[in-house]
Amino acid sequence: MKERDKNIENSKKDSSADSLESASPLSGPLRGEKICVIGAGFVGTVTASGFARFGHEVVCVEKDDKRLSLLRSGRIPFYERDLEQLVKTEMSGGRLMFESDLEKGIEGVKAVFLTVGTPSSNGGRADLTALQEIISFLSKKMKPGQILVIKSTVPVGTANMIKKYFSENGNRADIEVVNNPEFLREGNAVYDFFNPHRIVIGGNSTGAIETISHIYKMGMTRPVPIFTTNNETAEMIKYASNVYLATKVGFVNELARLCDRVGVNTMEVARVIGADPRIGQEFLNPGPGWGGSCLPKDLREFIGLGDSLGVSLHIPRAVSEANLRQFEHVYRKVKSLAGDIKGARIGVLGLTFKANTSDLRESPAIPILTRLIENGAEVIAYDPAADGEVIDLLPGIHRVDDPYETAVGSDCMLILTEWSDFQLLDWGRISETMKNKNIVDARNILAPELLKRYGFNYASIGQN
Ligand code: UDX
Repeated sequence: MKERDKNIENSKKDSSADSLESASPLSGPLRGEKICVIGAGFVGTVTASGFARFGHEVVCVEKDDKRLSLLRSGRIPFYERDLEQLVKTEMSGGRLMFESDLEKGIEGVKAVFLTVGTPSSNGGRADLTALQEIISFLSKKMKPGQILVIKSTVPVGTANMIKKYFSENGNRADIEVVNNPEFLREGNAVYDFFNPHRIVIGGNSTGAIETISHIYKMGMTRPVPIFTTNNETAEMIKYASNVYLATKVGFVNELARLCDRVGVNTMEVARVIGADPRIGQEFLNPGPGWGGSCLPKDLREFIGLGDSLGVSLHIPRAVSEANLRQFEHVYRKVKSLAGDIKGARIGVLGLTFKANTSDLRESPAIPILTRLIENGAEVIAYDPAADGEVIDLLPGIHRVDDPYETAVGSDCMLILTEWSDFQLLDWGRISETMKNKNIVDARNILAPELLKRYGFNYASIGQN
């Protein structure tokens, strides 16, 4: 058996119900560690406050003054369900603090979790600038026995490169580097932290891997598989997960285009094919295309890695292209109902890349609405949470604070995000204020029959 497979096998034993059920934060043999989390984005803040809830003593380091002072006053700079309450409780319990000084933050801690962003660079590969800056600092300041845990999504080989850098530039061969990818969904990140499907810990040192496993086991209330492996495998697992998820959504979006043509309901097909456990029910909702802070950039890095090694990855490339076509498909649906886009007034509900987040990063709304505006449409949009970037990313839209306002005098309504609030709107009232009763429900969240009763020309994704 290969060393790597042995590790994965061992991790299965390690994650038995017994070992986890005994890991109560208050009574078990495991003890709380001092932990530093670098970066207070959604991953860092959730991880820091989650570890504090597990019973660890956590310092979360954030260099942005505005973000830091918000967090210190118990407010969250972005929308993430349940996070504010968790942060407030852990701060008042004295287990969580926010700090600007990195040197102070890592003082006396057992493990340093790095969660800084790795956005796409212009060439599509992951931009490691923020990470490199911190690594350079840590190589001089971390102490023997401390463990560096890379939680940021990093290209395959990064953890080992950092380990080498530590040895060569800081004389810190005694610092172990571990990769521990995150699988937190925005909008469900607190839930996901406490209810993970799996925990992946990559590294070369058994001791370091065990320490990180214990940090998690401290607070787990039910058995969770912990897979231990080497760093490159852990790094690849993260990319493979997100590329696969994008592929699955990409497939169902194409299926929907075909179903539309032949008059078959995609939702029905998806539900039935998903009953086969080899396929699974989740991630089979057709929509306006996938977006967000992870899937698009991880797909680009994955393709870029393949290219750099001469491995042409046809499926991810096709998935990426199909997603662009999905944006265009939604635009065409609006056009086919509204008629001439030039001068048309389009009421838009939802701007974020999915519901329950304020995040607009790579939201399908950006290309779709940009195309509408470029072709002369007037776009009036409502979103309950989209953050202040809206004006920068979509300068041409007129944003309103009341969803009903988007409908007044409009030629077509367009739903781009599956906020549940939109299902509760009075669609009869909306229909009365519109100029032309057209609606494109790009998330399939409304009942077609009801909308038709109100006199709407209703179009969805794959249900027509
Ligand atoms: C993703 C991964 O799910 C998570 O494990 C990882 O760590 C971070 O990246 P997130 O970016 O929050 O999480 O979004 P996710 O829930 O995965 O959705 C991605 C995109 O796919 C969204 O645009 C969403 O609207 C779309 N999607 C998802 C669909 O269109 N249909 C579906 O059925 C599921």
